[in-house]
Amino acid sequence: MFFRELNRGKCKTYLLGCERTCRAVVVDPLKENTGRYIAVAAYHGLKIDYVIDTHTHADHRSGIWDLAELTGAKAVMERYAPAPHIDVHVSQGDVIEVGDLRLKILFTPGHTPDGISIYVDGRVLTGDTLLIGGTGRADFAGGDAGKQYDAVTQRLFGLPNDTLVFPAHDYRGNHYSTIEKEKTSNPRVAGRSREEYINLMNNLGLPLPDKIQEALQANQSAIDDDSLKFPDLGQLGSVRTITPSELNARVIAGNSPVILDVREEDEYRGELGHLAGSRIIPLRLLPQRTGELEDLKHRDIVTVCRAGIRSSTGAAILTGLGFEHVSNLKGGMLEWNDAGLPVER
Ligand SMILES: [Fe+2]
Repeated sequence: MFFRELNRGKCKTYLLGCERTCRAVVVDPLKENTGRYIAVAAYHGLKIDYVIDTHTHADHRSGIWDLAELTGAKAVMERYAPAPHIDVHVSQGDVIEVGDLRLKILFTPGHTPDGISIYVDGRVLTGDTLLIGGTGRADFAGGDAGKQYDAVTQRLFGLPNDTLVFPAHDYRGNHYSTIEKEKTSNPRVAGRSREEYINLMNNLGLPLPDKIQEALQANQSAIDDDSLKFPDLGQLGSVRTITPSELNARVIAGNSPVILDVREEDEYRGELGHLAGSRIIPLRLLPQRTGELEDLKHRDIVTVCRAGIRSSTGAAILTGLGFEHVSNLKGGMLEWNDAGLPVER
């Protein structure tokens, strides 16, 4: 297998290739290095079939969309990933074939809700779930320390001991580790119970990363052209939510709010469908199209998207523009579908 880390910095991007068929996959690309990845792949005669993000990154803008567009590769993320323009959504146990390589997907949430690790040929790319001598923080972007502990101790530590570990970040100049080494000496996890781990992770007291909102909201929405000014954390934090069952009860009672879907057209008509009677304005166009909603300023509005993240941004934008009663559908169409509620396609 061709295997190379391409950034030579704290953020790690991996190029993996099948040497027989010359097909390749890029994992966790940085937007600013897209040209380098294409050049390195071309230099080695590799054609990029897939681009995978192991999770929605908060510390850098993802190169997944640029790279997919420029090479024709398919963009891959976990099912709970909130962003649009993902060609393949994967879940636990799925396999992605790249030439002769079989990439096995392990669902490893906790750092974010959409975290995956990728096992291939005795190596595992662990994203920010398991780092070398550490774990990714679980205190923002939907993190959950308990789920992270389970992912690390059950899924990742269940791999063969000699599996090589390649994380998405390293701040100490390490290149790789092994499952055995992390099992026995990772100071966050080794010898700690689930409860002790949760307690530790919830009390790290770390400052938020620089530019977190610029990177995180850009990656959650695939909007990176600065055309949209994202709401700040305070505005997002004050957005009201409504659960799928609450919204459904209002619809059934004939007391439906205005339902505004902020996804892209292909998602609206796609696999997850949409709510009957909903109208659609994609988030990236919302600020310039609020004129269409002017007569709804005093009405109840519920914003909807895939995972309830982009719609939270949409709700905050509308609230900031004087719309008085905007709520966000919690968990988006994923949770709506999981609850077995009716959709149209
Ligand atoms: Fe991360």
